[in-house]
Amino acid sequence: MAQAATGSATKTGGGRAKKTAAKTLLRVTDLRSGYGALPVLHGITFEVLEGQTVVLLGLNGAGKTTTGLNLCGALRTWNGTIEFDGQDATSWNTHQCVGAGIVMVPEGRRVFPDLTVEKNLEVGAWSQRTDAGWFTQQRDQVFDYFPRLGERREQMAGTLSGGEQQMLAIGRGLMARPKLLIIDEASLGLAPVIVKDVFSIVRQINADGTTVILIEQNIGALEVADVGLVMEQGTIVSELRGKDLKNPAEVRKIFLG
Ligand SMILES: Nc1ncnc2c1ncn2[C@@H]1O[C@H](COP(=O)(O)OP(=O)(O)OP(=O)(O)O)[C@@H](O)[C@H]1O
Ligand SMILES: [Mg+2]
Repeated sequence: MAQAATGSATKTGGGRAKKTAAKTLLRVTDLRSGYGALPVLHGITFEVLEGQTVVLLGLNGAGKTTTGLNLCGALRTWNGTIEFDGQDATSWNTHQCVGAGIVMVPEGRRVFPDLTVEKNLEVGAWSQRTDAGWFTQQRDQVFDYFPRLGERREQMAGTLSGGEQQMLAIGRGLMARPKLLIIDEASLGLAPVIVKDVFSIVRQINADGTTVILIEQNIGALEVADVGLVMEQGTIVSELRGKDLKNPAEVRKIFLG
């Protein structure tokens, strides 16, 4: 079983020491699911402790997005269980997941191109629309993380650069004030320097208390990880932590076979 760290999860390089993480926020046990009659996940088991960043690493078709879709309630679980924050989340729909604090930023940075940056963020706060102070508070927090979005708040999202659209997609996810933020392939199609920026902001978001699952093909994501879970053909084949995360050669061997 791929189990998250049980001791202190102190991160280096993020500028700030993390508190000891002990509580299990997410527990996935023998998760099986797929599309129609096609099985894709063949029994996935792992835990995420509160405050951790876990990277789900794998090549095309490994089942990373499918795992994420199960966690955020967008895909029905065939078998196994998902426990979130002490509750049985196995059969939750997306609405229940968002309400409980699970938010997924989908692959392909799907922003609303004909809405402004600010309107896109408003959509992200929809679940909290009855709370008058929520939107401005969260929006300002998002602009703190991503000052470029603040500068471009009136700009149509479709005219943002790829990197800025990815920032907006993450920002929109943050508007629901998630406990667990799942980001699907944030680095895809972005220049290395922009990827670095995005990962460094994700590290900051995590240091501020949001637990993160990064779905990635980019090995560089391991730099911000407490735990790396390598997926192949719908199963978790390796669990990386400590020095394995810092040793790219070893990681590459495992990842590339
Ligand atoms: N909507 C769907 N209908 C049928 N099969 C699907 C569907 N979505 C994904 N699959 C299949 O499920 C398997 C796992 O796909 P998944 O998208 O989870 O992989 P992934 O690890 O996210 O890959 P990538 O890095 O390319 O995004 C693949 O074989 C894929 O063809
Ligand atoms: Mg995917």
